[in-house]
Amino acid sequence: MSATGNTNPTPVVECRGVTVRFGSFLALNDVSFSIPDHGEFVTIIGPSGCGKSTLLNLLAGFLQPTEGEILVKGKPVQGPGRDRGMIFQQYSSFPHLTVLGNVLFGLEVCRRDVGLDRAARLARAQDLIEQVGLANHREKYPHQLSGGQQQRVAIARSLAMEPQFLLMDEPFSALDEPTRLEMQELVVKLWHRIHPTIFCITHSVSEAVYLGERVWIFAPAPGQIAYDIRDAIPPSMGIPPLVAQERSEFKEAVYVVTEAFRRVTEMALTSAGRGSTQTKPQVRP
Ligand SMILES: Nc1ncnc2c1ncn2[C@@H]1O[C@H](COP(=O)(O)OP(=O)(O)OP(=O)(O)O)[C@@H](O)[C@H]1O
Ligand SMILES: [Mg+2]
Repeated sequence: MSATGNTNPTPVVECRGVTVRFGSFLALNDVSFSIPDHGEFVTIIGPSGCGKSTLLNLLAGFLQPTEGEILVKGKPVQGPGRDRGMIFQQYSSFPHLTVLGNVLFGLEVCRRDVGLDRAARLARAQDLIEQVGLANHREKYPHQLSGGQQQRVAIARSLAMEPQFLLMDEPFSALDEPTRLEMQELVVKLWHRIHPTIFCITHSVSEAVYLGERVWIFAPAPGQIAYDIRDAIPPSMGIPPLVAQERSEFKEAVYVVTEAFRRVTEMALTSAGRGSTQTKPQVRP
């Protein structure tokens, strides 16, 4: 199935007929899409267990498809790479390193490839720590930070490597609501400033609409992209989430996405009632 058109001879990401089986279980079924241009922000929602993390793990190179292939800039993904940064739901900083040590870590390990001297590496790390609002915390260890601060470290650490792709798997779901809203605003700001291509999984429709330029809705059993919603999604740059959420176009977008999500869930329930696992929902461009 094709979720997007392809206007560029070499798309930045292309997924061709990707199927993933875990034993006899079909986790993803014949997923195809093409992201033609660099710097898109795709948010992904869908019922639990429908293969969202599996897709991100494929893009990250942690997992290989059973069938089909994933190409990044025309080359098959064969493993993790510095061009792709991953941010997980659980905070994943090194506990024995300070904030500065964590953000510097990748730059130090890959210093030959990064091509920066010590002062330039330090400057990049300090700048990112400032951008994510942790300038006063750079000498602290992860256990001395709040959840939101730890997630800021994870974002700064990923961005330090200047990845062209940022893969985020429910990055804010462990955070309280005010921190979550703050982080949403921060990520949109950083995306506009640094402009990586972002895939971000979330369970919140309003978060998906606020963060993304387009929202993919996954259908379960077997996992596939059922809806690719673009035109209904308003831009959110420079608008705090609580303000954006009050706007009529935002509310309309939430309605469109919620309805599509509801249809996907209903379809899954109907197919489960029939004992079928082969529901093929309609793709909306
Ligand atoms: N390593 C594995 N071995 C066997 N089954 C797996 C494995 N990883 C995932 N699965 C199964 O594949 C399906 C998709 O899993 P995945 O983690 O991608 O779901 P998800 O959409 O991210 O769900 P959630 O929203 O709950 O995080 C699930 O049914 C899961 O049990
Ligand atoms: Mg998941």
